[in-house]
Amino acid sequence: MVASKTVNETKEKLSDLGQEHVFNFYSKLSEAEQKTFLEQVQSIDLNELKTQVDRLVLGNEKEADFNWDALKPADYISLPENGGDSALWEKAKSLGESVIKEGRVAAFTVAGGQGTRLGYDGPKGTFVVTPLSQKSLFEVFANKITRASERYGVAIPWFIMTSAINHKTTIEAFEANNYFGMPKESLFFFSQALFPAVDLNGKILLEEKGKVVMTPNGHGGSLRALVDSGATEKMRKEGIDVLSYFQVDNPLVSCIDPAFIGFHVLNQSELSSKMIPKAYPLEKVGIFCQYEGNNLVVEYSDMPKAMQELLDENGEIVFRSGSVAIHLFDRDFIERVGSASSADKLPYHKAVKKIPFINGSGEYESPKELNGVKFEMFVFDALSKANNTVIIEGLRNDNFSPVKNADGIDSPKSCQKDQLNQAIRWLNAAGVELDISPEGNKTKDFSFEINYRFAMDEEDFINQWNNLKNKPTIELGTIIE
Ligand code: UD1
Repeated sequence: MVASKTVNETKEKLSDLGQEHVFNFYSKLSEAEQKTFLEQVQSIDLNELKTQVDRLVLGNEKEADFNWDALKPADYISLPENGGDSALWEKAKSLGESVIKEGRVAAFTVAGGQGTRLGYDGPKGTFVVTPLSQKSLFEVFANKITRASERYGVAIPWFIMTSAINHKTTIEAFEANNYFGMPKESLFFFSQALFPAVDLNGKILLEEKGKVVMTPNGHGGSLRALVDSGATEKMRKEGIDVLSYFQVDNPLVSCIDPAFIGFHVLNQSELSSKMIPKAYPLEKVGIFCQYEGNNLVVEYSDMPKAMQELLDENGEIVFRSGSVAIHLFDRDFIERVGSASSADKLPYHKAVKKIPFINGSGEYESPKELNGVKFEMFVFDALSKANNTVIIEGLRNDNFSPVKNADGIDSPKSCQKDQLNQAIRWLNAAGVELDISPEGNKTKDFSFEINYRFAMDEEDFINQWNNLKNKPTIELGTIIE
């Protein structure tokens, strides 16, 4: 039985914070349920919750002190084909290659989100994305990392962040698929923390009579989770100081990009990012900007429409640097910002959602209107805390085609088309002429695939292709592997 002193103290604390309703159904719970419930409530940082509720739900501090006039577009290093210094890119690439070969780089995927938009039940990484071979997002990343390991002669570890909602099922998926061909010891799974959700008046929501609604604390929670889980410690032991960060929804990402790594190391950057020029002014991506001397990302939904649409004298989008959530983190920086005692904590943001809950009468309600607030930290808020940040330009078709929606933009279909366009482009670069062009519409009934286990990027493909003794004829259904 739970000591009544503990119960009373917890009740009192909640009551002091105006959250006494959390205990409404306590007396109706079984002894075991009471114990689990108390453990859950005691694991919540109630003072932090109060701070965030006061800030983001009851007050409206956010808009007040931001000076939009002081916001400038961020500087970035252009690709050679867009005016960048090709000698510098070469230098960065060869430095990056040495850093990879020295075993200083690991891959890192954030996969703790709820992925509700896609309407897929299960860890998002298990969603099938390749057009012919039906590989999942996880398998695609595993193949790219395996190929990079093979190419550079070094085992590249892969850190994967899950959350309580998908940790077990994620590991089961890897086990069931023999870790997608990766050595088990190269994989490190850990869960991010959760944070309570509240109603529009800041009151904690209950999921069951003895359970608070807890949601993942945002990908910004990854920095703390990397430290708490022992991931950074493992990196230190293994001599890894560069973490290549990407989202689970983007199979086109170049998981291990030598030039990007080279620029990061060359500049002694604590946090580097890749930008892709926005495809159109209102594209729904974060935007790299400069504010008070620091780089930062402003979410498209926060930036005034007129600013998103602003064009320069050449007709180019002024705030053009789309953030595609591809970063490189320095290990010491993660430890500095992610440690429990850090003074550099990332801020929480709020997301207003429809959140099912138990009402005051103890009945389950699935709301039709927005009724609740989730709190999330964003990893890109770390930019303003990092020294020597670098932003480089990336080619869209080699970096970004996320699967977010069931149909239309950023859907499985658009992603498959982009994979095909990439495969065509790589073949063309290897001197293979096809009777189709990436931009043309003749690709309609034509599909083939390059297995990323065969080649991780265009340069790698050209070499691999040239070394192939029996080159396949490219026709409907060909898979180059
Ligand atoms: C995100 C970025 C946006 C960027 C876009 C590129 C935010 C707020 N916005 O948008 O700037 O242009 O991607 O595709 O992030 N995740 C966790 N734990 C969490 C929440 C999310 O691991 O608690 C992971 C998800 O599993 C996913 C990634 O973070 O891999 C992105 O999450 P999501 O909330 O879907 O971001 P977007 O709104 O698509």
